[in-house]
Amino acid sequence: MTAPSRRSTNVRLRWAGDDQWAVTTPTGSLAWSQDEPPPPGEWAATAHGHGESTGDLYVGSADRVLASMPDLDGTVKLAYLDPPYNTGRTFTDYGDREESALWLTMMRQTLTQVHRSLRTDGSAWIHLDDGEVHRVRLLAEEVFGPANFVADVVWERKRKPSYLHGQLAQVTDHILVFAKDRTRLGRFSTGEQVASRRVPLHHGSNAPTVLRFPAGSVQMPQRLGTIAAGDMSTASVRTELLDDIEVVDGRNAADFAMFGSFRWNQERLDRELAAGAELLVSSRLPLRPNVISGSGSKTWTTLFTRATGVATNEAAREHQHALFGHAGFDTPKPEELLARIIETATAPGDLVLDPFAGSGTTAAVAHKLGRRWLTVELSQQTVDTYVLPRLTQVLAGTDEGGATYRHVPALTVPTPEGLTARQARLAAQWLGDLVAAGELDGLDPETVAKAAARMREAAAATTPVRVHAGGGAFRVWSAAAAVAVAA
Ligand SMILES: C[S@@+](CC[C@H](N)C(=O)[O-])C[C@H]1O[C@@H](n2cnc3c(N)ncnc32)[C@H](O)[C@@H]1O
Repeated sequence: MTAPSRRSTNVRLRWAGDDQWAVTTPTGSLAWSQDEPPPPGEWAATAHGHGESTGDLYVGSADRVLASMPDLDGTVKLAYLDPPYNTGRTFTDYGDREESALWLTMMRQTLTQVHRSLRTDGSAWIHLDDGEVHRVRLLAEEVFGPANFVADVVWERKRKPSYLHGQLAQVTDHILVFAKDRTRLGRFSTGEQVASRRVPLHHGSNAPTVLRFPAGSVQMPQRLGTIAAGDMSTASVRTELLDDIEVVDGRNAADFAMFGSFRWNQERLDRELAAGAELLVSSRLPLRPNVISGSGSKTWTTLFTRATGVATNEAAREHQHALFGHAGFDTPKPEELLARIIETATAPGDLVLDPFAGSGTTAAVAHKLGRRWLTVELSQQTVDTYVLPRLTQVLAGTDEGGATYRHVPALTVPTPEGLTARQARLAAQWLGDLVAAGELDGLDPETVAKAAARMREAAAATTPVRVHAGGGAFRVWSAAAAVAVAA
């Protein structure tokens, strides 16, 4: 189930220079231009690896590179954008200190290209800190449409805050998720199976409204026959059936309307039905439509933390050390974060786009997970120092870090026969709750603690499964004019 759609808005973000272009200068900084920067010239590719190429790395400014690819329209399933956040700092590998208006102009140009590249069922995940996120949200609403905002994911970026923090110690980043067309976007599923639940469509605290249910949209027990219009209220639910319903073949034969307080508005009901939602009523009156929730698997929440299995920047830095033998790129993202996003937002073979490659994390993870990829990096030096050596290791199968292994729950300690890792986790939680509530106070504390530790150990146990053993091929594309020259 997706959250209710938001109202459209005519609020727009405006800034001095928003009618101009941002161009990238040869030093990598941004400058204003009255005219649209020229597209890059002819591209020349070098091939890496063996067999069919599944990845393309372009050297140049993302918005210009993407603008030079008309065939990209509607082909990308997932775009992950990790731009310079405009932090005001200067990193070793790239500058991150631009006038806000100029930076926003560059972001609008890039987002516009990303938007046209997406499939109708595709999504863009825009990673930012809290410096520009509020402006980019408005900007992205303008490019994607406010109704296509999906969520603001909070990612736990570091385990320990900086010693030099201000009033609050910042340990999280934002990832804004937008859909090309939210009515066509699927759920972001964890893959973990859950039993389906019935959720009442009536919802007392919402303002009363009229909902129209299309013919055949509600499953009804045959024995209800014809249900006469009328008041269907009880003490806790005020509602009225506005049309008679004839039940034929276990469904409503014609449209019918109900008045009452509902969980969804008409737009949402229509959207959910179009996406295959199941509605059913029980065999007794008064009439209460229920939604069958959960098509067998859980949905990720908007909280991406270590507790939910996502690594922090500390892990990314360790991996850089393993890859390069030194500190590596300044601001890498952990592969586990990209694996979470790519696995939930795409299927094997789908095309993943990252316009701001940096050290090539998205490309590496997409390759390991069997997705096609396209990435762009402005700096030739970054490509030569990080992206190419890293992807070469991925092809050679010598990169043992990040998303190379998936850690799957596995019972590695002796447990009662038939117990699954999930059951062990629930048992450990339950025992902890009982102890906290004092319900086991009569028992020997040492025995209880031992049992709890054993269950926790069983529940936490995972086994690494290698997902990529090396192999595959990609291309690197360069163009002399790929980096536009400032006017
Ligand atoms: C925050 S880093 C990306 C880090 C990356 N996600 C990783 O895990 O390594 C941003 C990168 O975008 C590059 N960049 C900046 N402006 C760009 C542009 N207009 N087009 C393409 N790349 C750009 C910078 O050189 C830098 O390498």
